[in-house]
Amino acid sequence: MTDCQGDGEGTMSPMELFEKLNAQGEKVRSLKSAKAEKAEIDAAVQLLLKLKVDYKQTTGQDYKAGCPPSENLIVSNNGPAADDCDGEDLVDPWNVSASSTKGVDYDKLIVRFGSSKIDTELLERIEKVSGQRAHHFLRRGIFFSHRDMHQILDAYEKHKSFYLYTGRGPSSEAMHVGHLIPFIFTKWLQDVFDIPLVVQMTDDEKYLWKDLTLEECHRFTVENAKDIIACGFDVNKTFIFSDLDYMGASPQFYRNVVKVQKHVTFNQVKGIFGFTDSDCIGKISFPAIQAAPSFSSSFPQIFGGKKDVPCLIPCAIDQDPYFRMTRDVAPRIGLLKPALLHSTFFPALQGAQTKMSASDPNSSIFLTDTPKQIKNKINKHAFSGGKDTVEEHRKYGGNTEVDVSFLYLTFFLEDDEKLEKIKEDYTSGALLTGELKKILIETLQPMIAQHQERRKQVTDEMVQQFMTPRPLNHKF
Ligand code: TYM
Repeated sequence: MTDCQGDGEGTMSPMELFEKLNAQGEKVRSLKSAKAEKAEIDAAVQLLLKLKVDYKQTTGQDYKAGCPPSENLIVSNNGPAADDCDGEDLVDPWNVSASSTKGVDYDKLIVRFGSSKIDTELLERIEKVSGQRAHHFLRRGIFFSHRDMHQILDAYEKHKSFYLYTGRGPSSEAMHVGHLIPFIFTKWLQDVFDIPLVVQMTDDEKYLWKDLTLEECHRFTVENAKDIIACGFDVNKTFIFSDLDYMGASPQFYRNVVKVQKHVTFNQVKGIFGFTDSDCIGKISFPAIQAAPSFSSSFPQIFGGKKDVPCLIPCAIDQDPYFRMTRDVAPRIGLLKPALLHSTFFPALQGAQTKMSASDPNSSIFLTDTPKQIKNKINKHAFSGGKDTVEEHRKYGGNTEVDVSFLYLTFFLEDDEKLEKIKEDYTSGALLTGELKKILIETLQPMIAQHQERRKQVTDEMVQQFMTPRPLNHKF
């Protein structure tokens, strides 16, 4: 075991075994390609086979290179059997692509990632504990998966509070509508549970990944913070921070970053994030920076040095690899694992096979778009589940499972009855694609105009206030 691998525990975690297997596989390959002595190769292969047996015993899964152990199996050995990772859906922090026009198979993803489905029982508990009707993102399965949400609710019921953590990678001045999803939901959680929120702006991440200067990334942080503030967060309960500023200003934050860095190896991040030997070292160590806000001790000004305030992270499921790593490392550095609530993706205009992306203007509706741009983009680009001719459509009806306009309405049309009626009418053929698009346009135009109006009211002083490290109001 290397220095990085932990504090001397005798048994290896599934992640450590996985990492050891990766390294041993590489060793066998390099011995073979170097035409080493047969005995040496045989010994290396024997060790590889033994590690595979250990891995299977520990996790119940067969080892597969590039397919790290799912996390339920890290927690206990009786979680669901993991799917193989040969499915064609690709979901990571940088890529989302699905093999089916219906989009990502989220049920399969839950099994592959080892998270849990948000089922009726959990929904009812959230309603009971919060005393509020569940947000329509929960009721409609847009937030569909979780890790340890029951534990958060158990603690809350015992009057032990928790805090929220979410974030944004500021890669451009304008955010798109998809980026709003976790923030709209986080605002609801902040309101119903009355708890503090920290928002990490990973300007360092965007500098490392994109062709942007540090100054540009930092400027985008401030611009994007205005959009986030415009979602209505309470300044007395919300701290928004730029990594470029806060990392240097907060010794406790940096200490947590270093602890995580010490306990995760290059092999592990290669396995989780697919980094290669030619990625810059900034990328390789970045996941530790996204992990650190999951620990309350990173914010002494808010939590007075407490290490045990539970953290709940709302985000789309693309960010889960960061938090699988965080949850694996947390107990090894004596800290709590964060809980998570995962959302599905707001699809690109062209269809549910990929998520909306800021780098393709025609795939996205931006928060800066004018009413005319919104109308044109939807009319021109929104993928239709309707039939080719009016006659056929009237006869056979449209398919709401793949129709982007309908899918967008499930996110933003709050009236359940109206949505159900649209579904019925579109499926029967009574409602045509053009009419459905018109309903979407008339839903999005005022929503985005109102966002722009609220954003205009956000002054530089307000941004400064949100971004100043300070105590926040909370009940514990
Ligand atoms: P970023 O800027 O890519 O995305 C910001 C948040 O938006 C979610 N998201 C989406 N949700 C629904 N539909 C979409 N099409 C869509 N596209 C993006 C992301 O999941 C994310 O929640 N590295 C992160 C920043 C970050 C972060 C965090 C995010 C740092 N700490 C903690 C969530 C939680 C990033 O670049 O996000």
